[in-house]
Formats: sequence, structure tokens, C-alpha cells
Amino acid sequence: MAWNRIESEVIKVNKEVSDKSYQSFSTFLYKECGIVLGGAKQYLVRSRLLPLVHEFGFESVDSAIATITARTNLKLCKAAIEVMTTNETLWFRDKYPYEILKNTVLPNFSKLNKRLTVWSAACSTGQEPYSIAMTVLEYQRQNPSAFSAGVSIIGTDLSLKVLEQSQSGIYEEIALKRGLPDDMRQRYFHQHENGTYIVNDQLKRLVSFKQLNLVTQKSSYQKAGIVFCRNVLIYFDNEEKTNILQNISACLQKGGTLFLGASESLAGAQDQFDMIKSSSGLYYSKR
Ligand SMILES: C[S@@+](CC[C@H](N)C(=O)[O-])C[C@H]1O[C@@H](n2cnc3c(N)ncnc32)[C@H](O)[C@@H]1O
Repeated sequence: MAWNRIESEVIKVNKEVSDKSYQSFSTFLYKECGIVLGGAKQYLVRSRLLPLVHEFGFESVDSAIATITARTNLKLCKAAIEVMTTNETLWFRDKYPYEILKNTVLPNFSKLNKRLTVWSAACSTGQEPYSIAMTVLEYQRQNPSAFSAGVSIIGTDLSLKVLEQSQSGIYEEIALKRGLPDDMRQRYFHQHENGTYIVNDQLKRLVSFKQLNLVTQKSSYQKAGIVFCRNVLIYFDNEEKTNILQNISACLQKGGTLFLGASESLAGAQDQFDMIKSSSGLYYSKR
């Protein structure tokens, strides 16, 4: 009986996204977090918003969009932004940034004998900052006196949902299989009785998390030595990319290192960085 009721309610929902709604939702999303939907992505908006349409009891996707864009229901607005983010990530993504980090960047920084701050901007569910932390710890295993002044790694993201998962440090076995080598799993994770894994204290101590919207908020990390800003600029237009990269440049110390995603570039911030071509791949040095 209850199921039938739910079924019939589900069927009653009008799933169409009109051109007008699509336009106003695109503008909302761009203003709130810089994400550019582009043309003809109605299917994406529909599939991502439908669970919220049901949860908040709307009769159509269009009426949910009208409430979202009127900004009268803050909880709904935040939920809509959350569902539109793409949180795909993996451990040691693309491998080469971590090879460069271990073989070139960390050795150079360790000579400075200063505290090292690393910022993982748009860290999703934590795989990136924890991979950085494992790389630092592996480097210290081979160079026990390195970074005695300390290392801190800060992961930020727009989405509170992914930050919660990052903070917990708990991952399903299937998530660990995406890029985490066995020896790293043995060294830096504990298995719970229920089969999930949790990052160990050594790893947890190095990494902290904070919400930060790269488009609407300026970060206050003044002396970061290294920034990972990977696989997020692709969602923004050139103007936003340039603004974000200029903000990152302001946070990096001179000679600091920036890693971008494999398909991302410096947009309009080329005057702020030197591009370094290594045999493993590309990275950038703050001028
Ligand atoms: C595809 S993931 C990339 C994760 C990681 N950097 C990597 O390369 O594996 C993109 C992340 O960017 C975040 N994001 C999208 N728009 C953002 C914004 N305006 N400010 C901060 N984070 C944002 C999303 O929530 C998502 O977790």
C-alpha cells in the first residue's frame, strides 16, 4: 500500500526541464560555484535533481528549479549545488604528480628546513590529500631528518558531503582498489571488523579539512609551498580559471609548486608561473 502510494507519487512528477528553467538553473550554478553547464545538458540536470525533487516533495523538476533559483530554501539550494558537483577521484591519480613530488619537489623543499604547507584545493573524498601525505611519509622513511619543522596538508572542497567522508578517513575496500598500492594499504590503513578501512593516526595527523568555494571565497593560506588544484578547473570558464589561479598564486610562496590536472592549463595566469617540463610530466613554479 505504502509502496503504491510512493510509486504513484513518483510517477506524477513531471521530469521535463524547460529551456527557461535550464537557463535560470545554469545561471544560478555559475554564480554560486562557477560551474559552467554549457548547452543541452538538461538530462544531467534532470538526473541529478530528481532525488531532491522527491525528497523535497515537488511536483516537477521545473518547480524545484524555480525554488532553487529564488533562493528561498537554503537547504535545497545547498543540496542542489552538492548534487551538481562531480566528485570522481582516486588514489595517486595520474601517478606522475606524486613521482615529481617525491623525486624533485620534496627534496628541494626539505633543504629549506622550514615548515611545509600543502593545499589540496578541491580534494573531493580525500584520496588526493591522503596520497600527498603518504608520499611525504614515504620520503621521511627514506630521509628521517627531513621536514623536522613539520608538514601540514589542508584539503578543501565546496561539498560538505565529500569533506565529511574525507574527515572520517573511512573507505570501502572497493574505493581502496582504485589506485592504492598494497604496501601503502598495509602501512597506512587499518581494517575494521565490518571490512571497511580507516586511515591510520600517522596519516590523519598530517591532514585537515575545511570547506572552501574556490569561486566565491579567497583562501587565506599565505605561505603554501605546494598546491594541488587538479581536475576542477575544467568545470569553469576562462575568467573563473584565471581568478582562481591568481588567488592560488597569491597563496604560494615564491618558488612554490603548483600541480594542475593532466588536461588543465594556466588560462590567463601564465605570467605568474614558470612551466616545468620533467620526464614524468608538467608542473608549475611560482615566479
Ligand atoms: C573531479 S573532483 C577532483 C578531485 C581531486 N582533485 C582529483 O583530482 O582527483 C572535483 C571536485 O571539485 C569540487 N568543486 C567543484 N566546484 C568547486 C568550487 N567552486 N570550489 C571548490 N571545490 C569545487 C567538487 O566538489 C569535487 O569534489
